Amino acid sequence: MQENLLEIFYKNEGKYVSSEEITSTLDLNLEELKDEIEELEKEGYVFDFSTNLGYRLKESSPKLLPYEIKRGLETDYFGQEIHYYAEVDSTNNVAKKLAEQGAEEGSMVIAETQSRGRGRRGKKWLSPEGGIWITTILRPHISPADAPKLTLMTGVAVAKTLINEYGLDVGIKWPNDILLGEKKVCGILTEANAKFNLVDYIVVGIGIDANVDTDIFPSELHYRATSLKEELGEEVDRVKLVQNLSKIFEETYEQFKAGNFPDILNDWRKLSKTIGSYVEVRKRMGRIVRGEAVGITKNGTLILELDDKNLRKIVSGECIHLNE
Ligand code: BTN
Repeated sequence: MQENLLEIFYKNEGKYVSSEEITSTLDLNLEELKDEIEELEKEGYVFDFSTNLGYRLKESSPKLLPYEIKRGLETDYFGQEIHYYAEVDSTNNVAKKLAEQGAEEGSMVIAETQSRGRGRRGKKWLSPEGGIWITTILRPHISPADAPKLTLMTGVAVAKTLINEYGLDVGIKWPNDILLGEKKVCGILTEANAKFNLVDYIVVGIGIDANVDTDIFPSELHYRATSLKEELGEEVDRVKLVQNLSKIFEETYEQFKAGNFPDILNDWRKLSKTIGSYVEVRKRMGRIVRGEAVGITKNGTLILELDDKNLRKIVSGECIHLNE
């Protein structure tokens, strides 16, 4: 019912629609119409009402409501199935359960907030209102060893989306942090599940600090993290951002499935702020490796030139740019 009601307002493009017209189209009485409008107001929609003219939609909801996302979605399958929540523990956890139950490729889990958002390397991921916390279920026919390629692919898709949309100074820090300048604005957490040495599903979690107030970041994050709102000086349209991301993400994934990972990797190299930087990579058990990042292999392994000029390949770790 609510979607049919919204459809009427969108068709009328911000103009007043008389209560009579709405009630007769939707077969409602005036009391029921009032209730429906109140429900939509609770979701964040803003209406004007005039006794003579009826209602008009003044502002759409700022939430990431599936109906709003799907209205302008130009994808074949990414985001065509959306599981939306006001709050979850982690969208990756929910997506894994759905994938176990057979959810289709391209299905997305979106939440306004996460109570236990997870970052890479077991870190906590702060997920307040205003951010974009979204996980996409993929089912590529690849071996688990190739799963990290999808993380790099996702980084390229997010970076391209932010460049297209806002023209900001977007870059990628190995393996998959999206930076604005030198500050992180987005992180990606990919988790794979395999059966008989073949990937059954991969959940790709993307966290974008979109309309997040950076004041709430703990002090150690202040000089390392930012939000789109902070950099642009105004709030972004999160619905539009999710629509564009879904489109570019699907295109890049199709490129991957067609065997064009080398092209994606070339895009990654162009977007990389790590290659050419002097970096420190923190590995497990407190081990640290320092050197100049000189390249990335065809599988996404980072190549460092150490101070003694030896080359060292780094498969995983937390990378810090030292020459900022
Ligand atoms: C990182 O940079 O450490 C990765 C952060 C990934 C955060 C996203 S938010 C959506 C999805 N759900 C999670 O719990 N984590 C990912």
